[in-house]
Amino acid sequence: MGAGIAQIAAQNGHEVIMNDTQRVALDRARKGHENIMARLVVKERVTPEESKATLKRIHYSTSLNDLCPCGLIIEAVIESIEVKQAIFKNLCELSENKAILASNTSSLSIASIGSVVKDPSRVVGIHFFNPAPLMPLVEIIPAVFTSNETVTEARAIIDSWGKVTVLAKDTPGFIVNRVARPFYGEAVRIYEEGIADPATIDWAMTELGGFRMGPFTLMDFIGHDINYAVTESVFEAFYYDPRYRPNFTQKRMVEAGWLGRKTGKGFYSYQEGAEKPKPNEDAKLGGDILWRILVMLINEAADALNLGVASKEDIDLAMTKGVNYPKGLLQWADEKGIQNCVDTLDHLQSEYGEDRYRCSPLLRRMAREGKSFY
Ligand SMILES: NC(=O)c1ccc[n+]([C@@H]2O[C@H](COP(=O)([O-])OP(=O)(O)OC[C@H]3O[C@@H](n4cnc5c(N)ncnc54)[C@H](O)[C@@H]3O)[C@@H](O)[C@H]2O)c1
Repeated sequence: MGAGIAQIAAQNGHEVIMNDTQRVALDRARKGHENIMARLVVKERVTPEESKATLKRIHYSTSLNDLCPCGLIIEAVIESIEVKQAIFKNLCELSENKAILASNTSSLSIASIGSVVKDPSRVVGIHFFNPAPLMPLVEIIPAVFTSNETVTEARAIIDSWGKVTVLAKDTPGFIVNRVARPFYGEAVRIYEEGIADPATIDWAMTELGGFRMGPFTLMDFIGHDINYAVTESVFEAFYYDPRYRPNFTQKRMVEAGWLGRKTGKGFYSYQEGAEKPKPNEDAKLGGDILWRILVMLINEAADALNLGVASKEDIDLAMTKGVNYPKGLLQWADEKGIQNCVDTLDHLQSEYGEDRYRCSPLLRRMAREGKSFY
């Protein structure tokens, strides 16, 4: 992740110092940068001169002291609060100047990371999506102590790199990793209930819903260890709200070492010659599956808006630009009808008796008042 961020900054004219404790990680990053820039030259996206200049702007270092002159420091080390806090403590001692200290964390709070810094007003979350050079979205996350100047300056820099920035509250999962939970969770639930197999659910979401990848293909691609860890940490961070409860199916896959594409086996087999199972292309079944997952996503998006996590425009932008959803979820809610969303969620909750399906008060209020998001 860090290597991708370094690449974008260098392509946008910044001198970049890439720091890692592991020399081998830096060597891998340097090789990666050389390969990517060479590929971009072949594709005629950059000239050979631009490629050379970009590579020359990236410096590789194992010493944190080398970061002293930086105006913006984006931390992207392993997802551990202890490791991140130790680094931020060192960074604040090092950079007596006014450097912006940013974290690319996906699941830790910016408040906890920045709490060790003497002047935390210059600490902010700058959350990229993988692969960083290709995905346009960046979430900007001010913590309770972040100054307006820091937010404005950080956002202006990332905007100038051609990224789409959205502002998110310092809450678990920020926008994307919170709102997207049902894409995986509800899909697995439908599978566990025996309503459909992964191939059919993936078919419904891609062919009928227009999503670029089905949930099972996507989980296999991300890796079940990573995807399960995010689900578990969001669940814990939300004080065990049943809406975010992880599932045994994925837990067992992690325990079995079936991590997806990278281990050759996940929901699908990736062995040589393995055939992908055929979906059941029943239009009624597919439509029901799509709607059940979609209405859960809409409910999350509406609840995020209700709780001030982000503006409606930013929530829709985040899902289309960060995870390639075919449409903003709140715009989709308008098209499907707010009352329709409420009725489906109420039906699911009465059928299952689970808080997991509770309707966001915002949707309920809007339905009552005949309002739409746009
Ligand atoms: N991978 C993703 O899809 C993704 C997406 C968005 C955000 N993130 C976030 O980015 C961060 C990094 O994720 P990743 O997947 O690139 O992890 P990774 O494990 O691939 O890389 C982490 C790097 O940090 C280095 N490191 C560890 N301790 C260090 C220290 N004290 N000082 C300097 N370097 C140190 C490691 O050597 C390693 O090269 C995490 O906070 C993660 O949540 C990851």
